[in-house]
Amino acid sequence: MAKVISGKEVSAKVRAEVKTECEQLKAQGIIPGLAVIIVGDDPASRVYVNNKKKACAEVGFVSEEYALPAETTQEELLALVEKLNNKPEINGILCQLPLPKHLDEKAVINAISPLKDVDAFHPSNVGKIMIGDYHFLPCTPAGVMELVHSEGIEVSGKNCVVIGRSNIVGKPMAMLLLHENGTVTICHSRTKNLKEICQSADILVAAVGKPKFVKADMVKEGAVVLDVGINRDENGKLCGDVDYQEVEPKASYITPVPGGVGPMTIAMLMKNTLKAAKIQNGVK
Ligand code: GUN
Repeated sequence: MAKVISGKEVSAKVRAEVKTECEQLKAQGIIPGLAVIIVGDDPASRVYVNNKKKACAEVGFVSEEYALPAETTQEELLALVEKLNNKPEINGILCQLPLPKHLDEKAVINAISPLKDVDAFHPSNVGKIMIGDYHFLPCTPAGVMELVHSEGIEVSGKNCVVIGRSNIVGKPMAMLLLHENGTVTICHSRTKNLKEICQSADILVAAVGKPKFVKADMVKEGAVVLDVGINRDENGKLCGDVDYQEVEPKASYITPVPGGVGPMTIAMLMKNTLKAAKIQNGVK
């Protein structure tokens, strides 16, 4: 039987800490501000953006939503980013991905000021993460690490396997585990012997985006299993990348879906926005 790591509880604690620090900043006349840009009407993006705005209100930040129509041009979007880069009340800028196909995501990410890039997607911030000298950590991998720390799980010397190599999760996840002296393997769609590699994992992070992809025979007895996936199963029910029913009895720790990594992403976004506000206002 695995210990279930509650992202609900850990994220509430992180948000409470951010709220306390936000109150201290307010006493100095500083109110952290986050701008959230959403283009088009992707229903999942709408849910995420609403949750981000709600979290801002709860911790005491100001949030501004910029909901642009799907036909928005690249020039219009870049002009908005530039305006927000220069707006002092806005400390963090987040452009919800994916963008409609005619828009160039890379150009938009590159246009966001690295100092306001609370997603940590800008190449300058990605590079800083690579060398271990960063202001902002990418929200989802940082949230996974927060869950690991909340249970006092030691990463040093452990075999860590990350399934998935996205820029948003897989690659930075591997880097954060490496920073804590894990021995890290990244698996992906071309990996040979995926099952055997996963079986060697003391810490297994699933970020593939395929419902119930990780089965019991891929997991070592006593492994820590961290599930980044948010998918729908054949009945339309929310599920992760891990087959929870099968894997839970073999794991020592496991994160559920929902209520695991998901709530951590937004909590870490709040943490990054607070940090951005502190840096931009010269507060230690
Ligand atoms: N789309 C899916 N996850 C994310 C995220 O963490 N940030 C942004 N901006 N878009 C996303």
